[in-house]
Amino acid sequence: MSQPGQGKGETQNGKNGPAANKANGALESSKSEIVAPSSRTRHVSCGGEEVVDPFCDPKNPRRISFHDVTSAAFLIKGGVERTPCPRSTSSDTYGMDLYLKKDFLQYTGSFKERGARYTLLCLSEEQKRVGVISASLGNHALALCYHGWKLSIPVTVVMPKAAPIMKIQKCRNYKARVIVEGQDMGEAKSLAMRMAREQQLLYVNGYDHPHIMAGQGTIGLEILEQVPEPDAVVVPVGGGGLIAGIATAVKALSPKTKIIGVESEKCASFTRAMEHKGPISTPIKNTLADGLAVPKVGVNAYATALPLIDRMVVVKEEWIAVAILRLVEEEKCVVEGAGGAGLAAILAGHLDDLKGKRVVVLLCGGNIDTTVFGRCLERGLAAEGRLVKFNVEVSDRPGGINDLCARLVRVGVSIKDIMHERAWLRDVYTVEVKVVCETVDWAHSLELKNELKKFYTKVEFSDVPLAINKKL
Ligand SMILES: Cc1ncc(COP(=O)(O)O)c(C=O)c1O
Repeated sequence: MSQPGQGKGETQNGKNGPAANKANGALESSKSEIVAPSSRTRHVSCGGEEVVDPFCDPKNPRRISFHDVTSAAFLIKGGVERTPCPRSTSSDTYGMDLYLKKDFLQYTGSFKERGARYTLLCLSEEQKRVGVISASLGNHALALCYHGWKLSIPVTVVMPKAAPIMKIQKCRNYKARVIVEGQDMGEAKSLAMRMAREQQLLYVNGYDHPHIMAGQGTIGLEILEQVPEPDAVVVPVGGGGLIAGIATAVKALSPKTKIIGVESEKCASFTRAMEHKGPISTPIKNTLADGLAVPKVGVNAYATALPLIDRMVVVKEEWIAVAILRLVEEEKCVVEGAGGAGLAAILAGHLDDLKGKRVVVLLCGGNIDTTVFGRCLERGLAAEGRLVKFNVEVSDRPGGINDLCARLVRVGVSIKDIMHERAWLRDVYTVEVKVVCETVDWAHSLELKNELKKFYTKVEFSDVPLAINKKL
């Protein structure tokens, strides 16, 4: 692969070589070395103006080829895990021959290692000495820092202030230079780009650098070795590099396999790009799938993936919480929101047409904050109707609350929280009791509701939960 910004027919070493940025062209050769762009490269000032990464130029998007993915597979072999892809124990429940590609089992907890290692291995000797830089909230930073450390290549990451402390600390443990700066990814990236230019570091976009995409594509090769001729592969989508790489590999070897992308409703930037016929900034909201929260998909990723994707699906956040819960309970897998998005699409009923088919769902990341994990499990239980809340007015005479508790015990539910209030009630001989309790399932919750209604006139019960009423 030649360098952006180089003269026609010139490689980074100044020798003759293939023309650099072929419009929409595949990488020339993944085996060639990469260096930071030369001073002739078009750089746009970072001082409040748009920052252009010459490897990800909107005017010159680049598509990767199958050859790029196989080159990546060859180079990273032995340096990253070949993760398992077993049949799901819940295949019958979902009515599909379901396989789970467990790439969250990579050392740093996500698939990002594949692209990071490949990109580092492709650097010129000089660039390996000088090093690379990137801006990331988490998984890409972890992967780059870890493999930089293993390969003795200096890595700098700029992490926005909102990045989880644990991830910042881990990057430091991997001996990287970690700069915590910027209110958001945009600001962190501006700083990283400026430093790249000043210090001749190579900026590595975590989803749109062509070598990153090629590295992620190796998941597709592994899937096809592990699951013969799947009918569909379901891939979570953030900036689009993951699906671009996987689709390139899968469609080349098994054109009939459908490639289905999944986004959270809070950051559906690929779907929006498709509607808009090109990458466009999409407002993003807080999401459980923070790994997918990319406001604008990559130009190379979009150009590569668009012709290969069969369908994009947008899931509600609650389904992601249910997916995280199910994966823990049924598969003993701890995944982050982005990692659970594929299963969420199945649970939400978006992929019902795949019933009876052989489907691979990618579990691409497991780096979930422990506190967020706890909240996800609770939300998942609530969405399935297994965690319910109700308010009930009971007698404030001695034994009133005791009677209520005895009824709850008889129904067999477990009280998680209970509190009572009097001040706002009209009847001075009643007390309002607010209860959160755990039940076996929604049917059990309904049994509880009916039981309460038999004895108390004022009962307010939680609404029908999302997983029960899919139309909500
Ligand atoms: C766990 C996880 N899954 C999926 C994605 C999406 O990958 P991409 O941005 O290449 O679409 C990311 C991106 O950071 C991620 O961390």
